[in-house]
Amino acid sequence: MKTYRIALIPGDGIGKEVVPAGTKVLKAAAGAGEFALTFEQFDWGCENYLRTVRMMPEDGLEQLRPFDAIYLGAIGHPTVPDHISLRDLLLRIRFGFDLYVNLRPVEILPGLESPLRGKGAADINMLFVRENTEGEYCGVGGRFKRGTPDEVAVQHSVFTRKGVERVIRYAFEQARRRRKRLASATKSNAMQYTMVLWDEVLREVARDFPDVTVANYHVDALAARMVTHPETLDVVVGSNLFADILTDLGGALQGSLGLAASANLNPTRQPTGPPMFEPVHGSAPDIEGRGIANPIAAIWTAALMMEHLGEPAAGARIMEALKAVTGEGRVRTPDLGGRNTTEEFAAAVAEKLAA
Ligand code: NAD
Ligand code: IPM
Ligand code: MN
Repeated sequence: MKTYRIALIPGDGIGKEVVPAGTKVLKAAAGAGEFALTFEQFDWGCENYLRTVRMMPEDGLEQLRPFDAIYLGAIGHPTVPDHISLRDLLLRIRFGFDLYVNLRPVEILPGLESPLRGKGAADINMLFVRENTEGEYCGVGGRFKRGTPDEVAVQHSVFTRKGVERVIRYAFEQARRRRKRLASATKSNAMQYTMVLWDEVLREVARDFPDVTVANYHVDALAARMVTHPETLDVVVGSNLFADILTDLGGALQGSLGLAASANLNPTRQPTGPPMFEPVHGSAPDIEGRGIANPIAAIWTAALMMEHLGEPAAGARIMEALKAVTGEGRVRTPDLGGRNTTEEFAAAVAEKLAA
């Protein structure tokens, strides 16, 4: 029997609440006996930083490399500056393992409503393909004359032809498997170097996919379109920062940030490290420790993990169980107007899987 080794990084805040919830569901999914899962937990995060001045050990990536997948909750706590905690852990894994695709589905689950009037599951069904290893997040820049009236801060964006090409190509491939429509987020009216390269590469790659209809929207207009005409959007490809912002909007369109799932992938034949699966949301310090975080994003993320590990039937079973629980509407966390806890929701999904 195939055994998958999963590295758990619950992280900070509600990450420590939703990862156990998702793990419970994963264990129930493995209960059918087609495959086995083993878990090893890494307590890396802001508490670790306060003790050791490191978010993860120096050889953290080497420790993670032998695993089949990483399942991460969220990183970030008010006790540590976000640019330290996120760059030294989350972004280090994404960049270090060259996980250049960040896949983020935006769909309406049964029994749940979008805040968009008159729009439902048939209208809101998008798949975001976010560039995940360069662009605005490259981390190149600096500050000088700190603390003086002449202070300067420079933050560069780095867009490489290879980096843009591979993520756009992946997005076209996804569009081909879906409704054959690709929208791209650009801003080439103001960003005359990076985004003009992006547009050129989009046009070049499009030649290999004549069956896919392409639309290139300026990101501001695309944000509006997500609200006014979501039914016109299928696969959406965007740079690191643009797609980061658009996918929180996507979570809101789904009904809560607690619903949005994601997969960080390197879809080449010889990936340099394991894929990482994490909810789109953060550590939500405003609700941490109360046991009320919505675990749907983490559970959906677990389904994406099983699908990408090569166990699509298990992924589909998790999604069916999740949809059965949302469809019944009996168990809901407060962000969706309910009164249930994270654990109660996860238990309801696990119960469906065991049935
Ligand atoms: P956030 O996503 O943590 O929270 C935004 C709002 O959404 C909050 O009101 C929160 O309560 C709510 N929310 C988020 N997830 C929820 C859930 N599962 N159930 C119910 N409500 C939920 O974003 P933020 O407040 O901007 O960031 C908080 C911290 O998280 C910061 O340190 C930030 O840098 C970090 N962050 C980490 C990740 C990550 O690790 N992947 C992602 C985003 C933000
Ligand atoms: C996300 C988060 C991260 C990002 C932050 C915490 C660095 O917002 O995964 O969407 O911007 O990638
Ligand atoms: Mn984000």
